[in-house]
Formats: sequence, C-alpha cells, structure tokens
Amino acid sequence: MVSKPDLSIDFCGVRFKNPFCLSSSPVSNSAEMVAQAFEAGWSGVAFKTLNSDRVPIIHPSPRMNAYHYDNKRLVGLQNVEQISDRPLKDNLLDMLYLKKHYPDHIVMSSIMGFSSAEWEYLARVSEDNGADMLELNFSCPHMTVEGSGHKVGQSFHLLEQFTAVVKKVVKIPVIAKMTPNITDMTEPAIFARQGGADAISAINTIRAISEIGIDDWVPKPNVHGIGARSGYSGPAVKPIAIRFIADMAKCEELGLPLSAMGGIETWIDALEFMLAGASNLQVTTGIIHYGYRIVEDMIEGLTDYMAEKGIARAQDLVGAALKNVQETDHFDLKRQGITSYDLDRCIGCGQCYIVCRDAAGQALEWDSAERRPKLVEDKCLSCMICSFVCPVTDLITYREMPQAWERRETAVMDSSLEKELKLAKMGAIEDAVKGCVD
Ligand SMILES: Cc1cc2nc3c(=O)[nH]c(=O)nc-3n(C[C@H](O)[C@H](O)[C@H](O)COP(=O)(O)O)c2cc1C
Repeated sequence: MVSKPDLSIDFCGVRFKNPFCLSSSPVSNSAEMVAQAFEAGWSGVAFKTLNSDRVPIIHPSPRMNAYHYDNKRLVGLQNVEQISDRPLKDNLLDMLYLKKHYPDHIVMSSIMGFSSAEWEYLARVSEDNGADMLELNFSCPHMTVEGSGHKVGQSFHLLEQFTAVVKKVVKIPVIAKMTPNITDMTEPAIFARQGGADAISAINTIRAISEIGIDDWVPKPNVHGIGARSGYSGPAVKPIAIRFIADMAKCEELGLPLSAMGGIETWIDALEFMLAGASNLQVTTGIIHYGYRIVEDMIEGLTDYMAEKGIARAQDLVGAALKNVQETDHFDLKRQGITSYDLDRCIGCGQCYIVCRDAAGQALEWDSAERRPKLVEDKCLSCMICSFVCPVTDLITYREMPQAWERRETAVMDSSLEKELKLAKMGAIEDAVKGCVD
C-alpha cells in the first residue's frame, strides 16, 4: 500500500500534474471553458485547432450524430466539425490568459496550416503567446479544405516536411497527431520523427458512417439532405485506439513518447492506455457525454488503484502491459480448457444453450424439467460465448483442463490427415490437367 501515489507525469520533458488533458475539440474551444476544466482537475489542454484566418471556416449544421446502441447512449459520436472558426487573435489571447492564470497547467496549441508558410506562422505565434507545446493536426478526417487534415496524415513525406518546417522555428516540444485512417500507424509516426517530432498523439477520429436514416436514406448527421463520411469517436473506438498506441509503443525504431485518446471515459480506460504505453491522455467524447467532472473519478480511481497495488508513480504504469502484448503465434496451444457453470446461481433463461447450439460446439444439453444446461465436456470449444450472453455475472467461467489437450491433439492430427488427403487429391487433379495440356 502506498499512502500518496504521485500522479504527476513527464511528457516530452514537460511536467503534467496528472496525465489527464482535454483534447482538441469543442471541449477546449475557449479560455473560459478550459479554465473551468482546469478548476475541475484536468492538468492540460490541447486547444481547439487554430486556423490562420486566411481560409474562412464555416461549420456544417447540424454537426454531430450520437450513435446510441440498445440502452447505452452515445456509444459513438460522429462529427463533421471543422477546425476553430474563431479569429486567430482571440485564440492566442485565450492561451495567454490561461498561462497567466494557470501557470502550472499545460497548454498545447493544436495547429493546422494549409501551406508550409502557414504551419510556420501558426507555430511561431503559438510559442510567442505562451503555448508549452505544439500539436500538429495531420489527422482531421473531414476537412472541407483541400490538401489538409488526414490527407496530409496519409501523405507521409508531406507530414515529415511540415513537421520539419515547424521544428525549425520553435523551441517547444512538437507532437504530431496521427490519423487512424491508415493501416500501420508506425509508418507515418516514423516519418514524423524524421521531421523532428518529439512525440506522437493518436487517435484522431475514424472516418465512418455511424447511421443512415431509414426513411430519408441520408447518412447522419443529415446536413439538409446530405450526409458525409466523417469522424467517429467515443467508447466504440477505444479498442482500435489502444491497439494503435500499443503498436507504436512496441516499435523500437519509433521510440517516442505517446499521448493517447479515443474513447477514454473512466479511470480504467485511462489506465489501460497507460499500460499500453501512453504517458499523456486526452479526452473529448467522454466530456461531451458527462462534462468536465469525470476527471474527479479518474484522479480518485487511479490514485486508489495505485495505492492498493503499491505503485508510487504514475510514470511506472507507462507501457507496463507491453511485454504481454504479442502476436498470436506466441500462444501456448498445449494449454486448453472448458467452461465451468455455477448452477446454484443459474436463473434458467437458456441463453447459453441457444448460443452454444447455434454458434459454437453444440456442447450443452438442456434439461427442460430443471431448466438447467448440462455440459458435454468433450464438445466444449472454450469459446466462452455462453458466458458473454449469461445475465448472471461470473456464473460461467473458464477452467483449464490438462486432459482436454489430448482430445484437441487428436483433433489437430485428424485435421492434418484431412489436409494431406486434400493435397493428394489436388496433386491428382493437377496431374490430370497436365495430361490434358500435354
Ligand atoms: C466534435 C469534435 C471536434 C473535434 N475537433 C478536433 C480538432 O479541431 N482538432 C483535432 O486535432 N481533433 C479534433 N477532434 C478529435 C479529438 O480531439 C479526439 O482525437 C477524438 O475525438 C478521439 O477522442 P475521444 O474518443 O475522447 O473523443 C474532434 C472531435 C470531436 C468529437
């Protein structure tokens, strides 16, 4: 037990009093809003992406769609919002205000230029107006201005070039924000590092269509009869975001600190991203759903967890799970198991029986008098889908079965025998075809 765990964390040589920051979006749109967030406990902000005033920014209306699934509201959020539509001067004054009144909080200026000169200009004025760090937005998936947003994030040489342009004119750390709308994020991240980036942040929103109106046939948000492929965020994207972070954290060639976002709502989400290698965390959709106050639970939850586990410094959590993140060929296939049922707690709903019959090993028999499942151990695939649908928590659990392996081994032998037979058959066909051609 640690009495007072230290939540502060170093990210690119900058000290954050905890890992929790606002990400660049409507939640970080003005000094007034960010000040409220700092008061609530957030340690830093990536300010809503600045624009240079040269290109007028007009947001579509309406600009978001909430994807509700069953009883869970806002599982995902789709948005077509552009970068900041506020005058650059106002945004810069806001940053000055924040640094003056909250000197121990961190302000990252998120910028997006539409030419090298603009990237350079926005970087300079951000540093001159107090920004502690820069975040280069290479990743918005629905910018209406040609040659910007995720199109830059997908053109690796351009991304490297713009990073280098910015690095030349500022002294503060530079973070490159990646688009998830690619296959392998380590590739563009390495290009950003070659351009001089000090860190990588990810993920921006995933290009998606969350819903199509079934009466008007228009994807949502329905902007007066037109829908668009645009950015998707929130809890639905979290598994994809963690995978991208782990990929980059494991990439030795990259070797840069990571700021993570994508579906963080609770201290457990936050912890998972840290274990996967992130030393800084950012949030938007969670705040859109619940407000700035969620940071209180994040701070309390992480503190209690660390105290209980005897972890003194949040920094020690960063990347702690990476040694356990492997490819599937590392699995020990000799270790097999089956499901185990605590039938005293069973309510007799029969859902386990239905899914095992229709989608698994047909390993359950149904005692209709008692309304209870009965496992035929030999047929159980240990896929665990019965436990996924069981309404009673932990009634169905996994049990390792050393003797089960013998059965699986026979199955594997059977299937390799089958393979050999197939190959023999294919050989015979090939010979026959060859004979025809000859
Ligand atoms: C309405 C909205 C506007 C956003 N605007 C920006 C932006 O201006 N710049 C940027 O880098 N990211 C922007 N984002 C992306 C977020 O910063 C963040 O990367 C993404 O939403 C994933 O995090 P989340 O699941 O916590 O929302 C925006 C997201 C939303 C939902």
